[in-house]
Amino acid sequence: MKIRVLGAGAGGGFPQWNCNCDNCGRYRRGEFNGKARTQSSIAVSSDGRNWLLFNTSPDIRAQLEAFPAIQPKTGIRDTGIKAVLLIDSQIDHTTGMLMLREGKPLEVYCTEMVKQDLSSGFPLFTMLKDYCTVNHHPIACDETPFEIPGIDDIRIYAHALKSKAPPYSPHRHDPHDGDNIGVIVEQISTGKKLYYSPGLGEIEPHVFKAMQTVDCLMVDGTFWTDDEMVTRGISHKRAREIGHLPQSGPGGMIEVLNGVPKARKILIHINNTNPILDEDSPERKTLDANGIEVAYDGLEIDL
Ligand code: MLT
Ligand code: MN
Ligand code: ZN
Repeated sequence: MKIRVLGAGAGGGFPQWNCNCDNCGRYRRGEFNGKARTQSSIAVSSDGRNWLLFNTSPDIRAQLEAFPAIQPKTGIRDTGIKAVLLIDSQIDHTTGMLMLREGKPLEVYCTEMVKQDLSSGFPLFTMLKDYCTVNHHPIACDETPFEIPGIDDIRIYAHALKSKAPPYSPHRHDPHDGDNIGVIVEQISTGKKLYYSPGLGEIEPHVFKAMQTVDCLMVDGTFWTDDEMVTRGISHKRAREIGHLPQSGPGGMIEVLNGVPKARKILIHINNTNPILDEDSPERKTLDANGIEVAYDGLEIDL
């Protein structure tokens, strides 16, 4: 199974257009040892030709241009994108659907809750009707395995995560199973598995159990500390409050990942304020010492 990180940044990307935090400021001044990152999405394939996108970021155009394997190969209009799976309805994970409006019928896999958000608060499904057909394929979040036509040899298991619907959602304050999911992606012929969950607020027992069964983890790397945006004077919101488990401290992601001996561990969806973006930072060295990698745009994994 081939995994391509299209974008490894959180909402806003790195640097963020209006942000002058220590990371963004130093990056623009050329004083930063670390990479820019577009917004969060990955692509998975078993044959290197037919790809399943997990999330469609607002940066999708640049992400596809940087990735020859997914570009047109035959005919006047063509793409390696066979389907899209949305793990939630957040703006940074779904807006790219608008950029795919020139395409043939879009095959979109998402939960009923995500479909509702994208037909109401952010009506992408409704809007796209006048540009291209969008075929919605509902997915259950009880780990019932399913396959996607055109994506051979890949099986997916989805489960619900404790998180919130986006700020725009009509049910922002009324959580439902399926607002946000984690997925296990398995190559049927090899049995190799990836767990992908860029927004993980709480490690519930079923999440920890899934983590133990896979070969590679790509999980929430948004914030280093719970109060990262508060101490920088950016926002009053704390990491956990908005559905992101910070890496450091008791019960943090480093501690969780240390309890998963088998898998390759990769953080993804890194916010621009996170010190781990700086490859010379002590926080990044702590990750290195714990065998935890930080995803970057263009990272490819062969599982
Ligand atoms: C989040 O995951 O919390 C987002 O990155 C927020 C956003 O897209 O604005
Ligand atoms: Mn996000
Ligand atoms: Zn910043």
